[in-house]
Amino acid sequence: MNYELILNDLRPNQEEIFAANRTTKKVMDFINETCEEEGIDAKAMAVGSVAKKTWLSGKSDIDIFIHFPTTTNMDYLKETGMDLAYKTNDALNGKASEHYASHPYLTCDIDGFEVDIVPCYEIKEGESIISAVDRTILHTKYIQRHLNGREDEVLLLKKFMDVIGTYGSEFKTGGFAGYLCELLILKYGTFEDTLRAAQKWKFHTTIDLEDFGTVNDDIFKEDPLVFIDPTDKNRNVGAALRIERFVDFIVASRNFLAFVDDEREDKVIEFFKPLQKEHLLNKSNEEIADYVVESFKDRETQTLIIKFPIPEMSADALHPQLLKTIDSICEKLEAEDFSVFKHAYWTDEERYVIFTIELNVFKQGKYYIHKGPKVWPKKACENFKAKWGDALYPLDEHMALTRERQFKTAKEFITHLLKLENIHIIKVGKNIKEAICNDYALFEIDEFLNDLNSHFNYGTDKSNSEELALEYLNTLDDFLNPGQYLKR
Ligand code: UTP
Ligand code: MN
Repeated sequence: MNYELILNDLRPNQEEIFAANRTTKKVMDFINETCEEEGIDAKAMAVGSVAKKTWLSGKSDIDIFIHFPTTTNMDYLKETGMDLAYKTNDALNGKASEHYASHPYLTCDIDGFEVDIVPCYEIKEGESIISAVDRTILHTKYIQRHLNGREDEVLLLKKFMDVIGTYGSEFKTGGFAGYLCELLILKYGTFEDTLRAAQKWKFHTTIDLEDFGTVNDDIFKEDPLVFIDPTDKNRNVGAALRIERFVDFIVASRNFLAFVDDEREDKVIEFFKPLQKEHLLNKSNEEIADYVVESFKDRETQTLIIKFPIPEMSADALHPQLLKTIDSICEKLEAEDFSVFKHAYWTDEERYVIFTIELNVFKQGKYYIHKGPKVWPKKACENFKAKWGDALYPLDEHMALTRERQFKTAKEFITHLLKLENIHIIKVGKNIKEAICNDYALFEIDEFLNDLNSHFNYGTDKSNSEELALEYLNTLDDFLNPGQYLKR
C-alpha cells in the first residue's frame, strides 16, 4: 500500500518545522547564555519528537532538557534548573505551569507551542541514571542514530495508534509511548510490517533489540509487551502499556490489514481519520443524551452515576486512584449479591469525576440465607447457635438462617459505603477520600442526563461546558458501543 497521500497530512509542513525549530533554538539559546552569564555548569538539549523529527503535524510539543554534570547536588539541580526554566519562560513571554515527574519541571506556552523544560543529569551511555528523566537524552540520541530516514513510518504508526486510541503512555490511556513506536519501527522496519507482526503477538511478547539477554522468567512477567530499552537493559519501555490497549492494537491491526490486503484504499484512508460516529452525526448534546438514556433503558439495567469534585492533584496521581476506587466499589457491590454489568469513570482532570456503574441486579428480595458451619462438628454448631439462637435450621450439610438484608437496593448500599465512617470498607484513593465522602452526588442515569447542563456548569464559559458535556456523552457512547475505534 502506498501511504504517500496519508503522509501528506501527517508530515509537518515547512512553516511548521521552521516555527518549531525557531522556538526550540530561542529557548535553548536563552538557557545556554544564562548559564554562561551566571556561571552555571549546565547545558540545554532538544529532546523528544521534535528533536527526533517524529512529530505529527499540529501536535508538536517541544521538549528541552537542561542537563547538569552527574556530580551536581540534587537539590542544587532542582532549584537551579527550575529557576532557569522560569527565567526562560519570563524572558520569552511564556505562560508557565509547574508539573511533577520524578522531580519538578516546567511546561510553558511559548509562541503557541507547549514547551517542556526539564532539569536532569547528563548520563553517558552505559552509566546508570540518577533521576528517571535522565534516560530521555539517551533515547533521543539512540533514535537519532538509528532511525535512518524511517521517520515517515513512525508518523504512520503514531497516527494509527492515535486514531484507534492506543497512543500515549500516561495512565489515562495506558498505551504506547512515542519512544515505543519508534523502537517498533526499528524492530520491524515499516509501519505495515509492525502491524503484521502485531497480528500474531501473544501476551508477554518480548523484544530485545540489543540482545542484552536480561529477560528471564521472573522479570516483567506481568507485562503484556516487553521491549527492553536499548539504552537501559533493566527497563521495559512498555511498562506503562496495559493489556486493554495491547489487545486493542492487535485487533485494530488485523482489521486494518484486511483492508490493505483487499486493496480497499478508501477504507485505509478512513482508518487514519478520527472515527466518525454516524449515529451521533449532527446531533445536539440534548439529542445525544436522549439517545444514551433510551439505549440504557433498552438494556433493562440500572445505571448509577456518582459525581464528586477533585482535590488539588496531578492527573498522573488522580487516574490510578479513581480506577482503584471504582473497582473496589464494584467488588463490594458484587459481594452484596448485586451484579455489576459494566463500569467506567470519566474526569476532566480538573474539577469533576463521574463514576458510571451499570447493574444487572440492583434490587433484591428482603431475605438472604446466611450459611454457618457444616452439621457434622457438634461444637462448631453450638458456637454458631450461641450467636444466632433458635432461628437456625439445617440446609444441605450446613446450619443456616434466613436473615433480612440490610441493603435491598444498590443505591442504598452505595449511600452506606460512601459515609465517612464506612468508607474504609472500600479501597479508596487517599487524595479523593474526603471529596467523595463529603461532596458526592448519586443519580440514576436518566435523572442525570435530563439535567445535563447543570452538571457541566463551568461558569460563564458556555462553550467549554458544552464541550465537556459532549466529551462525557461520547464516553457513554463508547460504554454502550465498545470497540468502535478499532474498525472502520
Ligand atoms: P513525550 O511524551 O513528549 O514523547 O516524551 P515524544 O517522543 O516527544 O512523542 P510526542 O511528543 O508524543 O510526539 C518525551 C521523551 O520522554 C521519554 C522519551 O524519551 C520521549 O522521547 N519518555 C516519555 C519515555 O521514555 N517514556 C514515556 O512513557 C514517556
Ligand atoms: Mn514530546
